[in-house]
Amino acid sequence: MCGIVGYVGKRNSQNILIEGLKKLEYRGYDSAGVAVYTTNGLKVSKAKGRLANLESKLGDAPLDGTIGIGHTRWATHGKPSDVNSHPHTDNSQKFSVVHNGIIENYIALKEELIAKGHVFVSETDTEVISHLIASLYDGDIVKAVQAAVQRMTGAFALGVLTEYEPDKLVAVRLQSPLIIGVGEGENFIGSDIPAILEYTRNVYILNDGEMALLTRDGVELMTLEGNFISRELFHVDWDIVTAEKAGFDHFMLKEIHEQPKAYRDTMGVRLDASGRKVVLTEVGMTPEQIRSIRNVHIVACGTAYHAGLVGKTVIEKLARIPVENDVASEYRYRSPIITPETLVIVVSQSGETADTLAALREAKRCGARVLAITNVVGSSVAREADDVIVTWAGPEIAVASTKAYTSQLIAFYLLGLYLAQTLGTQDEAAIAEVIAELKELPEKVEAILAQSETIKEIAEQIATHDNLFFIGRGVDYAVVLEGSLKLKEISYIHSEAYAAGELKHGTLALIEEGIPVIALATQHDLFEKTVSNIKEVKARGAHVFGIHEAGNEEMAKVVDQVFAVPATHPLLTPALSVIPLQLLSYYASLARGNDVDKPRNLAKSVTVE
Ligand code: G6P
Repeated sequence: MCGIVGYVGKRNSQNILIEGLKKLEYRGYDSAGVAVYTTNGLKVSKAKGRLANLESKLGDAPLDGTIGIGHTRWATHGKPSDVNSHPHTDNSQKFSVVHNGIIENYIALKEELIAKGHVFVSETDTEVISHLIASLYDGDIVKAVQAAVQRMTGAFALGVLTEYEPDKLVAVRLQSPLIIGVGEGENFIGSDIPAILEYTRNVYILNDGEMALLTRDGVELMTLEGNFISRELFHVDWDIVTAEKAGFDHFMLKEIHEQPKAYRDTMGVRLDASGRKVVLTEVGMTPEQIRSIRNVHIVACGTAYHAGLVGKTVIEKLARIPVENDVASEYRYRSPIITPETLVIVVSQSGETADTLAALREAKRCGARVLAITNVVGSSVAREADDVIVTWAGPEIAVASTKAYTSQLIAFYLLGLYLAQTLGTQDEAAIAEVIAELKELPEKVEAILAQSETIKEIAEQIATHDNLFFIGRGVDYAVVLEGSLKLKEISYIHSEAYAAGELKHGTLALIEEGIPVIALATQHDLFEKTVSNIKEVKARGAHVFGIHEAGNEEMAKVVDQVFAVPATHPLLTPALSVIPLQLLSYYASLARGNDVDKPRNLAKSVTVE
């Protein structure tokens, strides 16, 4: 996602900031900027697009100074543009802020500041921070930042400068990574280790709820309440390539581990503080328009299509609107029955997939309203759709999609709840129950990730086979389709995902002694039925790996090996049960010696039909 770099020392900060931002380019971004304290005060330069655009601006008008902050932005609140780029300043231009993360209560804060006479120029949540700090400043920048942070909710990392105290750089971390690099006569901040690795290998890793004051001569670490902290320096011995992956062996594994954060960020501001309703300000449909929806088409490709299959169950169960799923490459050639009362939902991580874009245009041509679920603000799909729900998963680099898929699931949960609360198809208590369970998902994902070794052992057994099956019923069937695709994509093991009850109508002929079958059975109402199907394959010699909900003691009695995922609301199980399947594919690919992040023949974004 976004990148932060900061410098205080004796060298020209502009060059150090640009070089640091270049090291963060792999994370993806759509604009960049720097703020430097110069002899003419605090000055900012920013540019939409690649860093080269910013470099050329700085080439024409350099910012000379030895303290500065820089940022690469990956748009969330507001489209990519010069004005929405960071750093952001207050009206006096004396305070400058770079920010990663999301300020959940920024609208309320903005309204409060506007009432006090502050004038805002961007659409971002970040601009609120610079104004807030300016309004609280009373001669001590550390205290002003502490006071501002008390007012802000959300997850964020900050770098702050003020012209009034031009030797000080303030850094804050709250659930968004930030590290401090310690040099000789110079110190650094970075959202990621690669940003500073060229200059120092000695770092302090800030924990949540901590901040730092950096000057040329030293670094003071403290809590957000101002209590000083002493900490050992961490010596980084990674090379730059390992550092980009935050110490993980592959981007895919890093992205699998980023899912708890992606869940939190995607839910973020969209869950009302009361915990009883969903707020989707980005959906512009009026209640009347929502009430007029007769049917929904969900259209997408690949993994996004599989997210849509879960979306169908979610919307049908919560909002009681009939839903059809289509792969985008088929949709426009089958003369779909689209009317102005059809809501077409297109799902695309990249927002640039040619088939999905063509389907979107066909839907619009037929008069449907189009809602996009995408991970990229300002993408073609986002620009052309009527409404956009952005998944805040951050850039996904591995070809095999993981955190984008699960963030799409979260988007469908939010949308399903939003439609249900508008249509009155679920009462407030039922909605509150799902919301409460949604909030617990990130921690439950963490609990699954902590058991990766168990999955690794199963994956190593599977990696020795050339064929296997996945089975599941109901929403579990949608999940095994994704699990099977993931395995094929990166391990090159052939697998088939079957609706468990359908196996006996043909495919059972392929079950022979020792063949692995992965059975997903999280749905209580379907459990007995799935067990019958498991027995059918067991009777023919299959070796069955069962994935079930914690607390269900029955699964272990019928399968060869089990893995339990934490219990949750029946509609939310896909957001948990897919995690072991992602890990299974990852470790199977690894065991086979494949290039996990760049599987053969596949591309991350397919922009041809
Ligand atoms: C490609 C990728 C898949 C992805 C699909 C749709 O085939 O390899 O991982 O699911 O495109 O991409 P989108 O960006 O539209 O979600």
